[in-house]
Amino acid sequence: MSRTRRRSKVYKLGIRLALYTSVLSAGVSYLLMWLVFEMNTDQVLTIALSLLLGIFITTYIVSFALQFRRIQVLEQVSKNISKKRFEEIEDLRTLYDDELDYIIKHLIKSSRTVEREIQRLNRIENYRKEFIGDISHELKTPIFAIQGFIETLLNGALEDEEVNRAFLQKAMRNVNRLIYLTKDLMEISKLETGELKSEIEDIYLFDIVKETVESLNYKAEKEKIQLTIYPFDRNTQIRADKNQLKQVLINLIENGIKYNVQGGKVEVLLKETEKNPQKLTLSVSDTGMGIDEADLPRVTERFFRVDKSRSRERGGTGLGLAIVKHIIEAHGEQLKIKSEPNKGSIFSITLTRVNLPEQLDA
Ligand SMILES: Nc1ncnc2c1ncn2[C@@H]1O[C@H](COP(=O)(O)OP(=O)(O)O)[C@@H](O)[C@H]1O
Ligand SMILES: [Mg+2]
Repeated sequence: MSRTRRRSKVYKLGIRLALYTSVLSAGVSYLLMWLVFEMNTDQVLTIALSLLLGIFITTYIVSFALQFRRIQVLEQVSKNISKKRFEEIEDLRTLYDDELDYIIKHLIKSSRTVEREIQRLNRIENYRKEFIGDISHELKTPIFAIQGFIETLLNGALEDEEVNRAFLQKAMRNVNRLIYLTKDLMEISKLETGELKSEIEDIYLFDIVKETVESLNYKAEKEKIQLTIYPFDRNTQIRADKNQLKQVLINLIENGIKYNVQGGKVEVLLKETEKNPQKLTLSVSDTGMGIDEADLPRVTERFFRVDKSRSRERGGTGLGLAIVKHIIEAHGEQLKIKSEPNKGSIFSITLTRVNLPEQLDA
């Protein structure tokens, strides 16, 4: 029932238009014939009625031809928007290029914007749900560990000086893990939602690499790893976000140290790209445990670790490479990983030079 009522609206405009036009025209003609030409009443009435009918039908047909199909389209488009059925909204072929066409085109365009916005919000919502699930899972382990240590202390172990210290140290390690995790979580959520933008500027690559390597030397020494930079031109300038590039290097070098063997090596190396002189490749290689081919595609996923307990024991959050990948992609660059189990891995990123090297230097 409601269907017929709604449909009838599409005819109403035409009927009204035909009615107004025909009544007005017939009325004016009637007056003209009667007052000016002084025709007799019967004749006037017949002509006026014929005019009324003729104009009514003609106007209705014209209005139908001009508007009916397009009003239907309008109706359909707005219905589809309210039902979020965007795929059914197709582009209208322009026939008249008048106001009505303009409105329809505008409506279709707006519907596309609404569709994109809904998709974007859905993506963020799904990401948020998944993210909260992952976070609560990751938070549980250190929180329960801290709870366990404190409970044991409260249940009597507090009297024993040695146990006391050991347990507090263990609790502290877990607190530190929570701190790293929170820091990485904030970073990755900003990167994944696009909130954190890269501030690209011209930077001297060697200075950044040197600074980063120096800040990690103490970690390498502690693990008895030899950390070196293969020397390269100090004047090489690239375009990147300085802090983000540092973050990438820290994450890659820390992994190289963490997943290495005693007495192993980590080296940072810069290479030119043969095919494209504008591009450089910066790689961090190690002589560590390597990654199985099957695990390689997954190592940049959030919270993926090949060996969970080793990662945890070394203060890993499982977010380091996901952060690297996001930063590199935001720069329009690429991350490549080569690895051989028990031999080592090479993590390479491409970088874009500011200027081409001077021909004379070559
Ligand atoms: N240089 C490497 N050598 C071997 N395995 C690595 C290396 N870098 C990363 N991985 C593996 O990839 C996983 C994910 O790395 P990452 O995202 O940095 O997380 P985390 O180091 O916090 O565990 C690590 O847990 C480890 O299993
Ligand atoms: Mg890591």
